[in-house]
Amino acid sequence: MKVLVTGGAGFIGSNFVLRMREQRPDWSMTVLDALTYAANPATLAPVAGDVEVVKGSVADADLVDDLVGSHDAVVHFAAESHNDNSLSDPSPFVETNVVGTFRLLEAVRRHGTRLHHVSTDEVYGDLALDDPARFTERTPVNPSSPYSATKASADLLVRAWIRSYGIPATVSSCSNNYGPRQHVEKFIPRQITGVLDGVRPKLYGTGTNVRDWIHVDDHNDAVVAILEHGRVGETYLIGADGEADNLSVVRLLLELMGQPTNAYDLVPDRPGHDLRYAIDSSKLRAETGWAPRFGDLRQGLADTIEWYREHESWWRDAKAETERAYALLGR
Ligand code: NAD
Ligand code: DAU
Repeated sequence: MKVLVTGGAGFIGSNFVLRMREQRPDWSMTVLDALTYAANPATLAPVAGDVEVVKGSVADADLVDDLVGSHDAVVHFAAESHNDNSLSDPSPFVETNVVGTFRLLEAVRRHGTRLHHVSTDEVYGDLALDDPARFTERTPVNPSSPYSATKASADLLVRAWIRSYGIPATVSSCSNNYGPRQHVEKFIPRQITGVLDGVRPKLYGTGTNVRDWIHVDDHNDAVVAILEHGRVGETYLIGADGEADNLSVVRLLLELMGQPTNAYDLVPDRPGHDLRYAIDSSKLRAETGWAPRFGDLRQGLADTIEWYREHESWWRDAKAETERAYALLGR
């Protein structure tokens, strides 16, 4: 099978490509990636020569049409993905996440190529901290940030193309990923690399916001399960029952890194900061047999800390640039 992986040089997409190289050796993979600040050229070095990397945008209609027409399936990870950036400048989020997905859908409509669209639980907005409810596939879409609004817009386009044109597509909405090769702008790698640099973790607000953590390999295994066993036209929520508030995650990181567990700072909150995400993934589990295999957050974080310790050259350049941008925001 010839698989086109958009955004395959970013965090989740590159973990997908590296994992599928091992798990699906019969696949031939092409990566379409604009190689923005979020992509690291070193990431796909282990598969250079084996996986073709096309530098270009999902919003480039001609390029996308050519690539979609010459592949059997598309796994669409490409996006602008960081909420804080979307608050500072929403424009690339609209272009990549909305227009880019539209271009892909039009190509899929012309060629009949199988599409899996990767989305996020953030399209459902947030839950109250004391609400026992979790998101399901029936939860109404209610995004809060420019990022999540563009992802929700893309999801709605996919659903409309499924219903109106009968394109062979599936959608998944996953909770917060962690693991190796995540950009240092994101919460967990920012704190790990900060502590390695002797800088105390920075918690937005009071640190009570809850995220539902999943290891990136569990996310990617679920994506393959949907691609291979999911029902075309359906949306699946992906989650590993990993709810934890940000303060608890920071305390755990500090403990694992041999620091006092109160050695963190509270910084001004993110505007519009979603309170809590929580996923009910029963539909995915029942229909595809998928189950998380890396559900132990303590072990997963210990392994992730080790990865960042051993790969300083991978993150060092991005770290300085990222912290300069955060400093301008007072965070
Ligand atoms: P990332 O920012 O690490 O990677 C995104 C990749 O997309 C980068 O390689 C970037 O260069 C590429 N890209 C950006 N604009 C592009 C364009 N116009 N054309 C082609 N490529 C472009 O993001 P990530 O965390 O790996 O997220 C991947 C996908 O998963 C996104 O769709 C995101 O919404 C979704 N998602 C992420 C999480 C999470 O916790 N990180 C959770 C659920 C869903
Ligand atoms: O839920 C899935 C989403 O998870 C994905 O769609 C997004 O692409 C991904 O970035 C992530 O969004 P979040 O906004 O939840 O992730 P982020 O890593 O930015 O922040 C996680 C939590 O940590 C959030 O409550 C904000 C907080 N935070 C973040 C940073 C960077 C801090 O307290 N301090 C920080 O320095």
